[in-house]
Amino acid sequence: MITGKSILLIISGGIAAYKSLDLIRRLKERGASVRCVLTDGGAQFVTPLSVAALSEDAVYQDLFSLKDESEMGHIRLSREADLLVVAPASADLMAKMANGHANDLASTILLATDKPVLIAPAMNTRMWDHPATRRNFQTLLQDGLHAIGPGAGDLACGEVGSGRMSEPLEIVAAIEGILSDTDAPLKGRRAIVTSGPTYEAIDPVRYLANRSSGKQGHAIAAALADLGAEVVLVAGPNSLVDPAGVTVRDIESADQMLAACESALPADIAVCAAAVADWRVAGEAEQKMKKDGSGQPPALNLVENPDILATLSQLNGGRPGLVVGFAAETETVVAHARKKRARKGCDWIVANDVGAGTGVMGGDQNTVHLITAQGEENWPTMAKDAVAIALARRIAQFFDAGFDADFDANSDAE
Ligand code: C5P
Repeated sequence: MITGKSILLIISGGIAAYKSLDLIRRLKERGASVRCVLTDGGAQFVTPLSVAALSEDAVYQDLFSLKDESEMGHIRLSREADLLVVAPASADLMAKMANGHANDLASTILLATDKPVLIAPAMNTRMWDHPATRRNFQTLLQDGLHAIGPGAGDLACGEVGSGRMSEPLEIVAAIEGILSDTDAPLKGRRAIVTSGPTYEAIDPVRYLANRSSGKQGHAIAAALADLGAEVVLVAGPNSLVDPAGVTVRDIESADQMLAACESALPADIAVCAAAVADWRVAGEAEQKMKKDGSGQPPALNLVENPDILATLSQLNGGRPGLVVGFAAETETVVAHARKKRARKGCDWIVANDVGAGTGVMGGDQNTVHLITAQGEENWPTMAKDAVAIALARRIAQFFDAGFDADFDANSDAE
């Protein structure tokens, strides 16, 4: 899919720059040409010679180099690329990009380009969590940039948390997803995606909820839109940025989620990634409930919520052609998920282990199994947005058997 494409890879300063050398190889193996820009920080971590040898091209480092500018001006560097990839994207370079700075070759190219840009952030977890970085990241997403990662895990600085640059093969999959935009295998397809938790009101100020962040569902909506689908994202309360190019319907309760899904029909694809509350409180109190002095808690009568996945799966007339559910399990994940697929009547189940200690709920990584009528696939642990890209590509393959959706990170392991 990326054979013959030109990638301009900008390597900024961070220990993750060593993974960018592997990224160059992975892209070249797949037939892409890779031209590299190394920032001053990047050159502290990898040498221009390594980058030049792997990319089999000159390495561009200096905005004011008479030689570089006469051979290949900074505007031409971006004009001749199909995609710009910033990996690693340091906190500093993201701050420059978000604020429109152009004081070195990398930031100038990024300000001057009209090509799609993918960033793979990598930094210390405290830098990633800093409000300034979060602000800059959100600005970049709102500006329409694509992002992959960062993932969570052990960081080179000795700390543990979010900030690890995505693995080269995850970045390759993201690149393939973006570049397949032009082919848009899901163009003309309509998709409904549910995401996040639901809030079930007890009274005007209290509610029942769960810990779902919505990260996986939002990432799926973005990945389907990247492949050209027209996506309605029905989202429970969350603190995420609305994905670009997606119609978002914000709801609170399961009843509202079902109504929003039904009004988004007809659709070709439904992906139910929301963590819908199983029960709601019967008869929400109109006024804030008060302690009555008896020391006895009030009785909350619960009634079962509609099952949105089962409802969409079992529609008589107007059923989406492909209905995908999720199964968050804490034990015997695959066996439970198989039963769930049959019980709900959906086509595929994406099963994951959310047991204590997996860090999946609210985290950035996910290890999933795809259960279909044909059997089961065990996918490697990936960032949630990489899972989303792989799932979107499998969905595209379902509708277009000629579309190559292979995503097996293990097959490339050395
Ligand atoms: O039954 P369980 O909650 O484990 O099933 C999970 C799957 O069903 C998820 O895809 C979830 O989005 C969906 N679901 C739903 N409506 C419900 C409960 C779950 O759509 N009321």
